[in-house]
Amino acid sequence: MKEKHLTTNQAVPITDNQNSLTVGDHGPVLLQDVQFIEKMAHFDRERIPERVVHAKGAGAHGYFQVYKSMAPYTKAQFLQNPKKRTPVFVRFSTVTGGRGSADTVRDPRGFAVKFYTEEGNYDLVGNNLPVFFIRDAIKFPDMVHAFKGAPDSNMPSSSSAHNRFWDFISLTPESTHMITWVFSDRGTPKSYRMMEGFGVNTYVWVNDKGKAVYVKYHWKPKLGVHNLDRHEATKLAGADPDYLTRDLRDTIAREGEVEYGLNVQLMDIADELKQDFDPLDATKTWPEDKFPLMPVGKMVLNRNPKNFFTEVEQAAFCPASVVPGIEFSSDKLLQGRTFSYADTQRYRLGANYLQLPINHPLAPVNNHQRDGAMQIGEFSGQVNYEPSSFADGMLKEALSSVSRVNRIEGEVTRQKINLTNDFAQAGERYRSLSKIDQEHLVDNLIADLIHIDKPIQQRVIENLIKADAKLGKSVANGLKLK
Ligand code: HEM
Repeated sequence: MKEKHLTTNQAVPITDNQNSLTVGDHGPVLLQDVQFIEKMAHFDRERIPERVVHAKGAGAHGYFQVYKSMAPYTKAQFLQNPKKRTPVFVRFSTVTGGRGSADTVRDPRGFAVKFYTEEGNYDLVGNNLPVFFIRDAIKFPDMVHAFKGAPDSNMPSSSSAHNRFWDFISLTPESTHMITWVFSDRGTPKSYRMMEGFGVNTYVWVNDKGKAVYVKYHWKPKLGVHNLDRHEATKLAGADPDYLTRDLRDTIAREGEVEYGLNVQLMDIADELKQDFDPLDATKTWPEDKFPLMPVGKMVLNRNPKNFFTEVEQAAFCPASVVPGIEFSSDKLLQGRTFSYADTQRYRLGANYLQLPINHPLAPVNNHQRDGAMQIGEFSGQVNYEPSSFADGMLKEALSSVSRVNRIEGEVTRQKINLTNDFAQAGERYRSLSKIDQEHLVDNLIADLIHIDKPIQQRVIENLIKADAKLGKSVANGLKLK
């Protein structure tokens, strides 16, 4: 076999990779050094825009397998056969910090799963906390602007202990519930292998008879939930900023497998208006005593990426990627998310980003979308439209199975949901914590709020008191507020 050697991108052999082409040994360098120009020009373009949120992350490959068929609830093919393994790719992430930020800062963690199913890709793009800060997607850009560095100074680069974060939070009462999660020790997980995952939004499952049911997703780590406390997390952010990334990669390399169980909560569509909260509001959980967790299947992560850029950085997850049998509810946060992800990915990665191997479905893709930057599909013939009488064996629309009837009526309006109920679940969450976890929540809140202007502190305390008087007063005492 011929020995491999260095080449240019045009496959021309490179005989000297150490010296530029110059006039004499001192230069100047010649414009005709095409080898130098190609190498430097490629290097100059080696970074793509980082994700606007969730920029720092770690990925792994694996498979998903149901324990038993979900046919009574959904016709999704990958949820039918307990013998079948569906390949998955998972990306865990922090949210607020940039691509080079530390893993252990207080933040929600992303938990995004791409299932490469026989009916196309299904993405379950979740977080490690069951609720969210806001309930309407139109507030997301404001929220992220307030959380990230200030436009004049770019500070702070990844921390919530600043006026702008708490200014927004204190004026957004529905965020109080999420605050009781992020500021508990769940905001600093010990390992990606030891945190839960939640779909947060409400989706709809539809079976082959067209019957629909609301569904919420929960991932449970086989190792149980374990967190760092504030002091350990702060120390690790300095000592090993890649702590969670390293832990996942080293464990898969050493032990071969990391496992999570998938569970769902189901709610009859007819029961939506019978609750004392709005079940389609992403700032709410569904009580597990009324809507018990049903085990669905397991996910095993067993292979590390070989190339971080092509597999992790270029991965594109999107809550709009659903398969037959899984649909959207009218949850206003979810509705906005179904637009935002593919939109940012067309900008971040380019028009044909779904052709990248990590994003490409294993199921065949057939349509007439051609051209665009970086097109690599192989097409032939004159027909790139449908219907056409020219081509034999033209692709036709797929046969549709029974689908749900979803009739929606109402006035066109910009309006808050009726049943906001912003504080009840925040209070219940605080009271459900063990004494030590309550103390850590209070301590974590004080450690952040101590840096904040008094009028903002005051507004935060007012919201916390509405959730639970003891919680609000304990934080107020720590801040020496009346
Ligand atoms: C209206 C609310 C939201 C909007 C508009 C939004 C938008 C975005 C955008 C634009 C990205 C970057 C995507 C990319 O560049 O590939 C992103 C990433 C992500 N979002 Fe959201 N998001 C919202 C709420 C949520 C919620 C509620 C969750 C959790 C349930 C979540 C989980 C994630 C995750 C896990 C990622 C990272 C995906 C990855 O690893 O590549 N987001 N989001």
